[in-house]
Amino acid sequence: MKPWRQERRLRSRSEQETIALGHLLAGMLRAPMLVVLRGDLGMGKTTLVRGLAAALGADAREVTSPTFTLVHEYAGEQTRLIHLDLYRLEAERELDSIGLWELAEATDGLLMVEWGHRFASVMEQADAEIEITAGEEEDERLLAVRWS
Ligand SMILES: Nc1ncnc2c1ncn2[C@@H]1O[C@H](COP(=O)(O)OP(=O)(O)OP(=O)(O)O)[C@@H](O)[C@H]1O
Ligand SMILES: [Mg+2]
Repeated sequence: MKPWRQERRLRSRSEQETIALGHLLAGMLRAPMLVVLRGDLGMGKTTLVRGLAAALGADAREVTSPTFTLVHEYAGEQTRLIHLDLYRLEAERELDSIGLWELAEATDGLLMVEWGHRFASVMEQADAEIEITAGEEEDERLLAVRWS
């Protein structure tokens, strides 16, 4: 595991606020970068990517959960937003077959990887992680953005 040196905490109280945080993140993240998104099912990882896509000038309506296709790509104005969900992946070697390492080499690629923490090799390559946990209120989410 990476020793993250920096952390910024953010709070969301609704789906709309999480989308707004995606816009804030667009100002913090720069391609090329690999960002791991961690947090339980339904915490808002995909929602956050939707906000990020909109902020980068991609069509955010296209952003859906990539659980079945594993990889989705959205063309932003300057950034290729690449959204992956590794929930259903079972072995590290499958990361090669979905082309993760090639994608990670794209100089204009901003990779957002849901469930990336399940794989040691992904954590080794990660430039940042965003962990989303439940807050006290029903729709409240606490985000911790960590980087080194
Ligand atoms: N503050 C919030 N931020 C984001 N989503 C919220 C919030 N409060 C409630 N929700 C709801 O939680 C769900 C989040 O779904 P989303 O697909 O973004 O989660 P996910 O973390 O990607 O899940 P999975 O691990 O299954 O891919 C949506 O149904 C959304 O309406
Ligand atoms: Mg998701």
